[in-house]
This record gives sequence, structure tokens and C-alpha cells, in this order.
Amino acid sequence: MKILITGCAGMIGSYLTADLLKTYPKDDGNEIVGIDDLSRGKIKYLKEACGPFFKKLKFIKADLTSFNNLWSDEFKNCDLIIHLADVVAGIGFVFSNESFVFRTNLLINSNVTKAINQYKPKRYIYIGTACSFPKNLQQSIESKPLIEDDQYPAFPESGYGWSKLMGEIESGYLAKEGITDCVVLSLHNVYGRYCDYSQETGQVIPSLCIKAISCLNENKILEIWGDGNQGRAFVHAKDIVNAIKLSFSKGENKGVIQIGPNTCTSINQISRIIIKHLDKNIKLNHNLKKPVGDIGRCANYSKAQRILGWEPKIRISDGISDLIEWLKINRVKN
Ligand SMILES: NC(=O)c1ccc[n+]([C@@H]2O[C@H](COP(=O)([O-])OP(=O)(O)OC[C@H]3O[C@@H](n4cnc5c(N)ncnc54)[C@H](O)[C@@H]3O)[C@@H](O)[C@H]2O)c1
Repeated sequence: MKILITGCAGMIGSYLTADLLKTYPKDDGNEIVGIDDLSRGKIKYLKEACGPFFKKLKFIKADLTSFNNLWSDEFKNCDLIIHLADVVAGIGFVFSNESFVFRTNLLINSNVTKAINQYKPKRYIYIGTACSFPKNLQQSIESKPLIEDDQYPAFPESGYGWSKLMGEIESGYLAKEGITDCVVLSLHNVYGRYCDYSQETGQVIPSLCIKAISCLNENKILEIWGDGNQGRAFVHAKDIVNAIKLSFSKGENKGVIQIGPNTCTSINQISRIIIKHLDKNIKLNHNLKKPVGDIGRCANYSKAQRILGWEPKIRISDGISDLIEWLKINRVKN
């Protein structure tokens, strides 16, 4: 197998690359290639995730917004392309930089499509997002679990959701034209180690964890954006790796498949889990001036269950506790 992963140094990419290097050893004739421009991902996280296997990875630092042979030649003779690279961030950044996010992701996805068109790998796994689902179906924490058919008529809330939907559509054309077998996984809200936890671009779970850790020696007040009743279907990156691996042999040309739990967990509930792990004296302070994004969504994942045999395994309190321990160490190292 020759497997190429774009965005290999990101949060999901680090878990996935580490797993694939172990599952498909180089000594058995396999080759794992990873591409990332390190705009958000970090080599040190990738190294930490891969351990001694890191040296078996062919890593290429390249910016996929600009098409060139330095990276596109790597698509030659690939059995499998897993496309994770895109601009990803928390809602604060996404809502104030929509034109940048939209344009950049369109460029990245289109360039990847062009390379696939050129080298025709056997299979293409496109990673989409639940942010591409219509805003009007996500107006309450009690919103009905989304099904794949809900995606149209399309009305994503942000330029990020639209850009990822365009990528989905473009990958569908590759399948329709018989250029490659295509799997489209639409992920709900993913969290785990190896993540960006900066206040500017971090996503909600790492941002809350780091704010909670930081307030321990100060006022023990944890700021929550909005009233905290907004929620998401949170899924651990290891569960995502499992879904991606299952789609190596299943799920091709079947349209979008949602990957996420069928329960919506509110930000207040997440905060209480964090507080339980850190210090019960931390108090919540709701800042109603901050953006909250969609109010609530979760997945009816029966399609993933039926086609891939996938279901989420990691309990949110276990995943958060693991992340907190990682953040405590990482924060000190940085
Ligand atoms: N994290 C989530 O909650 C979530 C939810 C749904 C879907 N997804 C999708 O999963 C994929 C991976 O997300 P993640 O959470 O690991 O994000 P991430 O930001 O940690 O990983 C993305 C990686 O892509 C790289 N990248 C960005 N622009 C690039 C460019 N121009 N050229 C090359 N590399 C570039 C970044 O450096 C980063 O390492 C993305 O496609 C994202 O849209 C993520």
C-alpha cells in the first residue's frame, strides 16, 4: 500500500499517521507519505504521536493552495489518498475570517482534486464536516439527529461550512466520472491531543480546558461564550481514525456518511466535566457578547453503522481527562 495523508501534522492527522505507520509497516513494502504546510499542525506533535515510527514517514512540507510538482508527484502510484488538510479553527476565527477560510479551502481542495485527476489513485477519502449541514436544522439543543439527506437544500452557517461542502461536491464528481473510488466522511466535532489550543484559533474543548487550567492559580473563573446551552456531538480523534480505517474497504461512492454520536453535549456540560477533573471550586461566567455558532446538532449515525460498521467508542469524560493531562504537560513545555 502507498497511502498519502494531507494535513498529517494536524490533530486528526497526527493520530492517523501514527496508527497507519504501525498498521502498514515500511518493512512490508508499504509507504506512508504525509503532506502539511505546518500552518496549524506541528512536527513535534506528529513526532510525539508516532514515536520511533516517525522515521518511517515520508514527510513533505508543502502549501496545497499552490499547485506544484513537489507535492503533486507524490500522488503517483498511490492506493489511497486521505485528505485532511484545510483551514480549521474555532468559531471566533472562522466567523471573522470567512472570505479567507472559504477561498483557501477551495484552493486546497481543488488542487488535491487536480492531482487525483492526474494520478488516479484507487481510493480517495474526503473529510467533510457537519458544519456543512443547514443552519435551520441546528437551532436547538434538542434538534433532531441529522441524517445525510438533510444536507440539501444547503444552507451552512459559515464560509467554512460552504467551503467544505464545495470540496464534497468536487470529490463526488471524481467518483461520478470513474476517476477514483470516493468516500466522503462528514465529521462532527472532533477533539483530542495534538491540537491547537490558542485562544485565537483553538476549538471549544481545548480552549475551555486551557482556560480552566490557567484560572486555577488565579480567580478560578471560567469564561463561557454565550449561555453555554449550545451543544455539539463531540467525537474523539481515535474514533475518527477508526472510521477512516473502516472506509479503506467500505463506503465508496455512497455519498456522504456522518461520523459522530447521536447525543448533543452542551458547553455547560463540557465545562462541568472539565471542572470535575480539575477543581470543583471553578465557577462559570457566561459572556453573552461572544459568538456561539449553531445551537445544537448531533448525528443519526445509522448510515455509518450500516455501511462501515462504525460507532463511537470513547466516552467524553475519558477523552477530556486524557486531553487535560496532555495539555498540562504541553503547556509547561511551551
Ligand atoms: N476538528 C474538528 O472538529 C473537525 C470536524 C469536522 C471536520 N474536520 C475536518 O477534519 C480535517 C482535519 O481537521 P483537524 O481537526 O485535524 O484540523 P488541524 O487544523 O489540526 O489539521 C489540518 C492540517 O492541515 C494543515 N494545512 C492547513 N492548510 C494547509 C495548506 N495550505 N497546505 C498544507 N497543509 C495545510 C494544517 O497545518 C494542519 O496540520 C479538516 O479537513 C477538517 O475540516 C475537523
